Amino acid sequence: ASDLPLKGKKVIISAGGTIERIDPVRYITNDSSGKMGHRLAEQARDLGADVILVTASKLEHPFGVTVRPVSSAREMQAAIMSDFDDATIIIMAAAVSDYRPKNQADKKMKKASQDIQILLEENPDILATMGQQKTHQFLIGFAAETNDVEKYATDKLKRKNADMIVANDVSKEHAGFNKDTNEVIIFQPNKEAIHIETDTKENIAKHILLEALYSMKL
Ligand code: C5P
Repeated sequence: ASDLPLKGKKVIISAGGTIERIDPVRYITNDSSGKMGHRLAEQARDLGADVILVTASKLEHPFGVTVRPVSSAREMQAAIMSDFDDATIIIMAAAVSDYRPKNQADKKMKKASQDIQILLEENPDILATMGQQKTHQFLIGFAAETNDVEKYATDKLKRKNADMIVANDVSKEHAGFNKDTNEVIIFQPNKEAIHIETDTKENIAKHILLEALYSMKL
């Protein structure tokens, strides 16, 4: 393999936690920082790829990649799908909200003198949708679990028709949301799981991409 195995290849990476608006000043989100996705974008760039980073994170935009800032899951999906057809690798490192408020108020909601309810409707599963539509694309998903990591990750691999699931145990001190380090297990169909011990997210990102390249025979 050459030094730049991804030269001329398009890699789409999603990062951060989506923001689902309730009204102009309130929203629902999660603890994802976007660090893993942004580190993946830099590593893919350094392997020569044309990187599109679709990010809901407030982190600095990496140099030398095309950044598409998004807020909601549906915006993220649109920003990814516009380049889906000619992408070589797609990495869903984002924590996509499973639900969004069914009604988004245009004006700030007023305080009521009683309890209120916010009805949530399901968001699209971006990874699963791509899993149904893929032709040549290598699809990588993430799984943040607190227990039974292997069981849930192998299930996700099948259910979403992904080529790789990178699982982390977010209950561990050195792994998961908003940390600079991570510890992951890589699951692929018909392959033994690969454990990557605690390391910086930069090194973990490099490892994930090299493993994908190996599986893709690039
Ligand atoms: O099902 P779960 O949310 O645990 O799966 C995680 C993987 O699926 C991540 O790669 C995440 O980016 C992706 N996902 C998605 N769309 C959703 C929910 C999760 O693409 N609505």
